Amino acid sequence: MAVARSILVALLAAVCIAISSAAAATSVNTTDFVGCLALHLPPGIVYTQSSESYSSVLEFSIKNLRFVTPATPTPLVIVKATHATHVRVAVRCGAAHGVRVRPRSGGHDYEGLSYRSLDAARSFAVVDLAALRAIRVDVRSRSAWVESGATLGELYYGIANKSARLGFPAGVGPTVGVGGHLSGGGFGLMLRKHGLAADHVVDAIMVDAKGRLLDRAAMGEDHFWAIRGGGGGSFGIVVSWKLLLVRVPATVTVFTVHRPRNQSASDLLTKWQHVAPALPRDIILRVVVQNQDAQFESLYLGRCAGVVATMTKMFPELGVTRRDCIEMSWIESVLYFAFYGTGKPKELLLDRGTKPDRYFKGKSDFVHEPIPRDVWESTWSWFLEDGAGLLILDPFGGRMGRVASSATPFPHRHALYNLQYYGFWWDNTTEASEQHMSWVRGVHREMEPYVSKSPRGAYVNYKDLDLGVNEYGGDGGGTSYETARVWGEAYFKDNFERLAAVKAKVDPSDFFRNEQKVDPSP
Ligand code: FDA
Repeated sequence: MAVARSILVALLAAVCIAISSAAAATSVNTTDFVGCLALHLPPGIVYTQSSESYSSVLEFSIKNLRFVTPATPTPLVIVKATHATHVRVAVRCGAAHGVRVRPRSGGHDYEGLSYRSLDAARSFAVVDLAALRAIRVDVRSRSAWVESGATLGELYYGIANKSARLGFPAGVGPTVGVGGHLSGGGFGLMLRKHGLAADHVVDAIMVDAKGRLLDRAAMGEDHFWAIRGGGGGSFGIVVSWKLLLVRVPATVTVFTVHRPRNQSASDLLTKWQHVAPALPRDIILRVVVQNQDAQFESLYLGRCAGVVATMTKMFPELGVTRRDCIEMSWIESVLYFAFYGTGKPKELLLDRGTKPDRYFKGKSDFVHEPIPRDVWESTWSWFLEDGAGLLILDPFGGRMGRVASSATPFPHRHALYNLQYYGFWWDNTTEASEQHMSWVRGVHREMEPYVSKSPRGAYVNYKDLDLGVNEYGGDGGGTSYETARVWGEAYFKDNFERLAAVKAKVDPSDFFRNEQKVDPSP
């Protein structure tokens, strides 16, 4: 066994030397790139555009039909990595032959930047990490190592299988990939108690622009800071993450109450902005506004009596009673908020979904001052008749407000809440696309006076190319730092400069790029 391992290490070293000797080359040579991959990777994990299963591998984790069109520039090659070595080889071959590599974990990027490019003239490759999805939970140390290609549902399932008293404070969507989610911060229904998902990362293994495998100690604290919220695709490819898990009670309580427009929804929304960020941190009360209805959803880390007492005291107008409560385990609450309802097996969390099922466009804001009632009242007339548009209001406060804005790249912790605009449709026509895209953009425009300013903020995990796109100008030479500042400061505020300085240090040749990456500071 030891002999086999040393042969493998020697072989790997030889591979790395062979590839890095070619790394001086800067011109793009796609044939040599594919040859390099073929030489150094096992058969069956490299898919070129002429491979029979290229389309199914590409579409496997695409979530947005907007980017499944014949006109979408797609990767020259997809490397379906099953080992960290494969990621290293892809990066080294890419660097040697001038082909840039984009990582894809769960494929949920709102703008599809993990698998498409806006530039049809420039070839790129994708390293798909979906098969790198091992999860190792250690109950004693309350920690877990999770590979980037695991989904949040797989992570939650893996934790619950080991202990009903541990959980992890990440996002709501169970098919979201761990890799992209942690790279952008990540928040879910325990954010008021425990903060961002990225706050609980204590180590990581990543492949840097030189194709080296680095852990936290080897990458250094600045680089480690950047990968926990600075947005995926700029600082390297994270292969696995060490997470500190959080304690959850044996019983939690959920409720969902609907308050339509004609049952004082505008008044409730107005008051909600004062109440939700000030509730005890064991409670989150988020709102989904759709069509003519405000849906108040809550997770309480305790029993029904506790949440009803708090609601009665702090938000009596909402009229929550014991009848609204459902008590369950934390993992059952994960299923509940993932639209599986109650009484379903937790194995449903292992369903990654394999086909995009809708077109969507999202945008986001952070709200620091309560929005006046008359504005909420006017929002009702904005909704489209087909109901295919949502506003999602995720309240902060609690632990979020107690962490410094510079502790991780995510700077918006002191907002009252995150406001997401989300339009979706199923109709494959230009008319439907234009109608729904302009709905999202229109509502975002209307809200401008009431949300964060100078700069107007946005959440990097709800990526939005309307904020601007990278100018590739002078590939490998010119930088678009000033252009990147526009969306960079929307996503990261003052932290953008530190991110750009880290980028200059760890990837000065700007190997890892996409249309909204962080640019190296000049
Ligand atoms: P994907 O693989 O598309 O990657 C996203 C970006 O990260 C790309 O730029 C990619 O190159 C890069 N990247 C991917 N893997 C990487 C790696 N291993 N190392 C470095 N970079 C990497 N967010 C939230 O905070 N809370 C929530 O509740 C939800 N819920 C939700 C539901 C649904 C249905 C969607 C579509 C999205 C969300 N999100 C969310 C947003 C989600 O957190 C965001 O889109 C993540 O970036 C998705 O990560 P994936 O790995 O799935 O995406």
